[in-house]
Amino acid sequence: MPLVSMRQLLDEAAKGGYGVGAFNVNDMEQIQAIMGAAKETNSPVIIQASRGARQFAQDKYLFHLILAAAELNPEIPIAMHQDHGNSFETCKSAIELGYTSVMMDGSLKEDGKTPASFDENVAVTKKVVDFAHPRGVTVEGEIGVLGGVEDGHGAGGSGLEHITDPDQAVEFAERTGVDALAIAIGTSHGAYKFTKKPDGSVLKMDVLIKIHQRLPNTHLVMHGSSSVPKDLQDIVNEYGGKLKETWGVPVEEIQLGIRNGVRKINVDTDNRLAMTGAIRKVLWTQPEKFDPRDYMKPAREAMQKVVATRMTQFGQAGHAGDYKPVTIAEIAKGYADGSLTTKPLVAAR
Ligand code: 13P
Repeated sequence: MPLVSMRQLLDEAAKGGYGVGAFNVNDMEQIQAIMGAAKETNSPVIIQASRGARQFAQDKYLFHLILAAAELNPEIPIAMHQDHGNSFETCKSAIELGYTSVMMDGSLKEDGKTPASFDENVAVTKKVVDFAHPRGVTVEGEIGVLGGVEDGHGAGGSGLEHITDPDQAVEFAERTGVDALAIAIGTSHGAYKFTKKPDGSVLKMDVLIKIHQRLPNTHLVMHGSSSVPKDLQDIVNEYGGKLKETWGVPVEEIQLGIRNGVRKINVDTDNRLAMTGAIRKVLWTQPEKFDPRDYMKPAREAMQKVVATRMTQFGQAGHAGDYKPVTIAEIAKGYADGSLTTKPLVAAR
């Protein structure tokens, strides 16, 4: 199956009332882990690469690995997504490479660190939409700013500093025509999100619900959504790691989000922890080993287990064969003739 439109994947998820995990990749083993989990659970998938990942793996290597995944798994719909594009040029280069979806994170300036003004965000995101839609490519925007830093991208600080304003979310969706909207509700990228199990004072599910009520047909995206499970932290620390105590986003909060318009859930850290724990265990308990396969195989298996668990928890499991993917060219026609409307339905207050 060729790569499919993320818009179609999310529209189908909305119909089915489930969420779709978007898992970050940097290398072959991570792609194989995701595809293994998708096959095992019969799930549609979003595979995403940050700018850092594209640099690390080099565009051609990474993209051709994804094409291999599509060729080997014709029954699984796969969307290939640019995570946190920092500029029009980054998104354009991903589109020209063949990505079927891009995120223009205009919540930050091009340095990927400094919060941008609302008007700057609207302008650059709209520019990406105008380039992407005629080519059938999906666009995710971000309003509000997440906490933390991932692959050098992020404003840092706590997730509470720039929570999304629901009125701005409505105006942003109307003015840009994005297909999906990432919102800031207190989460951060990375392992250190919360100092205790989060409650409503730090994880603003009430804001998410308000935004969904105003924008009932807009696909919402939760970034920074690793759950950072204690068992994965413990494995890392048991075998020589030095993680400090930390809490992530509880799966039940993500499921509450899914009942309120969340269709894409970004997960990276949990997979990093799973792989690192598995590698540490081999190197710590069997120091005589030096064949990378001796630790990469358990690392890949550990990641597959986490991804399969999330696919089941997010509800995408079992839905790979529900629909026939349409081509990117047909999606482009849908944007042009208005059948894939990008004017959001806005509910009265
Ligand atoms: P985590 O660090 O919580 O896995 O978030 C990843 C993410 O949001 C990628 O954009």
